[in-house]
Amino acid sequence: MQSKLAIVGLGTVGKGLIELLYEKSNFLSEKYHFNPTVVAISDPRVGSLYNESGLDLKRILSLLDRDGNIKDYPDAISGWDSLKTIKESNADTIIELTPTNLETGEPGLPFIRTALKAGKDVVTTNKGPIALAYRELQELANENNCMLRFEGTVIAGTPALNLALSPLAGINITEVRGIVNGTTNYILTRMESGMSYEEALKEAQLKGYAEAIPDADVKGWDAVAKIIIIANVLMGGNVTVKDVEREGIDSITLKEVEEAAKENKHWKLIGRATKLDREIKTRVSPEKLDEDDPLSQVAGATNAICFTTDILGDVTIIGPGAGKRETGFAILSDLLDINRLKEFCSG
Ligand code: HSE
Repeated sequence: MQSKLAIVGLGTVGKGLIELLYEKSNFLSEKYHFNPTVVAISDPRVGSLYNESGLDLKRILSLLDRDGNIKDYPDAISGWDSLKTIKESNADTIIELTPTNLETGEPGLPFIRTALKAGKDVVTTNKGPIALAYRELQELANENNCMLRFEGTVIAGTPALNLALSPLAGINITEVRGIVNGTTNYILTRMESGMSYEEALKEAQLKGYAEAIPDADVKGWDAVAKIIIIANVLMGGNVTVKDVEREGIDSITLKEVEEAAKENKHWKLIGRATKLDREIKTRVSPEKLDEDDPLSQVAGATNAICFTTDILGDVTIIGPGAGKRETGFAILSDLLDINRLKEFCSG
């Protein structure tokens, strides 16, 4: 199927997506009959381009490598802002990748609303809008007969949301427990071998795992956003930021981490959503896990989620939770899902 994409917000993840679309173009066409064209990119820093027939991805990638922006691209209208791109381009799918803000959802939230109201499908990796307004946005998508996908908001391309929504459909998930933040897991793992908290945080920042303001990671806010999304999307919850009990890893001492490791136990920042009679209880806090806990062996920036279910017992998924191509893949997987559904509907 043809699909016309507009990328709103072009940072690391957007570049990862463009690389995958370019490298896998033949494979996607042959195996999945998926023939996407990127018709627009809009980013206040990197530049904005629109060509209704499609942009040359190879050229975009070389410009990004050479200049860090796309301002010298020929053969396109330039300068459209994100709202104009969403409303006036011929894109049928908006890939919303602006920076996350867990307090307001800005700037992505109004972009997603505008796109859905215009009947355009939306794929996003932006945690803010989904954590704050999942229900409203999903209703907008339903009313306007379009799709909203956001696999990349929770542990990047490792399939967590889509796994629970699709292959695990029909099952009752009673609890979700997970290591859903790579930065804190990386810091705790490094501290086990004697590195100080400050040094380990610096290393996580250098490796590109940490959020722009690392408090979002170490104080647990990033994990809070992911647990809200899990609780509301997979467990029917109505959880908001203030409902989540939160404690970060910044109070854990090197001595505590080293002593636990000597007993083969491991401190982990655990996000938890538990189904009770009438509500979903949610918490993000450091927990000292025993050796035989499947989450205990998950080291470094790797993430893991354990779903406790009525039929299969515990199902645990382990994989990358951040990264350019890892998160770019989450978008590709959502796009393929949309493509599959559209192909099915068109008979
Ligand atoms: N800062 C996040 C993490 C990035 O460390 O997991 C992915 O959401």
